[in-house]
Amino acid sequence: MAKLKWGMIGGGEGSQIGPAHRLGALADGRFEFAAGALDHRPEAGRAYARQLGIPADRAYGDWQEMLAGEKGRDDKVDLVTIATPNSTHFEIAKAFLEAGFNILCEKPMTMTVEEGEEIVRVAEASGKICAVNYCYSAYPMVRQARAMVRAGELGKVRLVVTNFSHGHHGDATDADNPRVRWRYDPAMAGVSGQFADCGIHALHMASFVCDDEVKSLSADMASTISSRVLEDDAMVNFRTEKGTVGRLWTSSVAIGRQHGFDIQIFGETGGLRWASEQPNQLIYTPVGGRTQIIEKGEGGLHADAQRLSRVAIAHPEGFPLAVANLYCDLADAIQGETRDGLPTAPDGVRSIAAVHAAVASAKDAGQWHDARPPMFR
Ligand SMILES: NC(=O)c1ccc[n+]([C@@H]2O[C@H](COP(=O)([O-])OP(=O)(O)OC[C@H]3O[C@@H](n4cnc5c(N)ncnc54)[C@H](O)[C@@H]3O)[C@@H](O)[C@H]2O)c1
Repeated sequence: MAKLKWGMIGGGEGSQIGPAHRLGALADGRFEFAAGALDHRPEAGRAYARQLGIPADRAYGDWQEMLAGEKGRDDKVDLVTIATPNSTHFEIAKAFLEAGFNILCEKPMTMTVEEGEEIVRVAEASGKICAVNYCYSAYPMVRQARAMVRAGELGKVRLVVTNFSHGHHGDATDADNPRVRWRYDPAMAGVSGQFADCGIHALHMASFVCDDEVKSLSADMASTISSRVLEDDAMVNFRTEKGTVGRLWTSSVAIGRQHGFDIQIFGETGGLRWASEQPNQLIYTPVGGRTQIIEKGEGGLHADAQRLSRVAIAHPEGFPLAVANLYCDLADAIQGETRDGLPTAPDGVRSIAAVHAAVASAKDAGQWHDARPPMFR
């Protein structure tokens, strides 16, 4: 079967997430890297694209040039990844969807709830795929956790507790470093710092694994480094549509925590724990029973976890292969197969609605707010 054609906007040389997309998209031979507008500096973007093997006529200087160039081609790209800074996602995503392209947009999908709802509508009208890169949901053992919840192996879920707390912005003497400072500057980052950056991964994970949606929340946010306008720490209590109690802590000043992303699900008949720093193991305890380690690649996993376990048991499969799982599902979806579990525009708008609700709640002394976008109330 011919390879699908893939293009990327952003993700240029030295970017944080660009390499994960390239490794993920190209890992399984389903896509070829056919086009790109990789950098905010047109010449640097063209040069880097050529260095990565993109033909000169598809190494574009900016996304508008890429849209115009690709639209007119018979062999136009089948999927466009948007890996630019947050404030650019909306206009790029909208323009490419309206022109009939499938997209994978980085999180947060948009800056406002209104923009998020518009992307949902545009995606629906276009009939194209609008995926959002909640890539942690594509780890095999996260899929195992979700399948166990769905199969009733934990009974009714009572409580979900999740953290995405690291310490990499905890050095006050480094707070004015431009690479750090923009994340806490409303002009660049929007209404929220750490919650919009990392907290939404945890919130999506809670919804994903519990097969549920966040309904309401109460938040406490703090800028523990006083020069920061936006929060570097947040504690969010939430309730889901199915009535599950949710707790989420996200921080960038938790010195000593590295990636710091984990989730625990507590049901009536058992509990589960998964951590992104030990992604091959899912810790399971049935009520009244012994704690067990469920290992990626072992026999008897649920089908989705088995499907996404690529290499032999006990061999590490890391972050790029989780991203690759998402690209495989995207390739399948582009070729007409239904893929349950692909995060899409509704997930993107739910996240940004929760961000705005959390900010409003924190300003409101922690009053509970509806966390859903108006379109899903
Ligand atoms: N899903 C994840 O786990 C994850 C992890 C990290 C970052 N992200 C998201 O990815 C996005 C990018 O983050 P990053 O950390 O890689 O940022 P970065 O600042 O490291 O890199 C951004 C890249 O985009 C390019 N760029 C900027 N504006 C552009 C434009 N208008 N057109 C083309 N290229 C442009 C820059 O030149 C640079 O190469 C953000 O939305 C971020 O939230 C997601």
